[in-house]
Amino acid sequence: MKNNNIILIGFMGVGKGTVARALVKESNMYSIDTDDLIESMENRRIKKIFSQDGEPYFRNLEKKTALWLESSVQNTIISTGGGFYKQENLQDIGLVIYLKSSFEGILKRIKKAPNAKNKLRKRPLLQNKKEALKLYNTRALEYEKVANIIVDVENRDLQDIVKEILGKLK
Ligand code: S3P
Repeated sequence: MKNNNIILIGFMGVGKGTVARALVKESNMYSIDTDDLIESMENRRIKKIFSQDGEPYFRNLEKKTALWLESSVQNTIISTGGGFYKQENLQDIGLVIYLKSSFEGILKRIKKAPNAKNKLRKRPLLQNKKEALKLYNTRALEYEKVANIIVDVENRDLQDIVKEILGKLK
């Protein structure tokens, strides 16, 4: 496994952070999140970065983050923003795992969360449902193409998902 890292990719709200945290408990790996890295680098929220400087500026920060991850991070579960999969060096950072769910499944998951409102509010690209569905449809196949492993997470127990991923790493 490249650099001994695992990269979790997938659409907004699919549960990349949740799965990363659960995997950490079951392994001797660390975990980081690309959006968290960007927010601390910029000392402001993703939403603010989008509204103040626009999406291209944010994508450039993702690129910078990807280069840093490749050169400097090991033994880590990396959860990513939903658009991070486009990084050219993705495969050089680690083993890429796509967490797959239908768009409806993702919306259901978000609605069920205790902090659902905040989960929606903090994601600029999830504000308009029609637009978000379009984005989902353009990305769905692209996620599959760049992934080394695809894990279906819809309607599944977290422990079950973690077990499947750990089983595939052996
Ligand atoms: C984005 C997903 C977000 C965040 C940004 C853009 C995307 O991360 O990086 O709002 O392009 O899909 P999550 O997938 O954690 O919501």
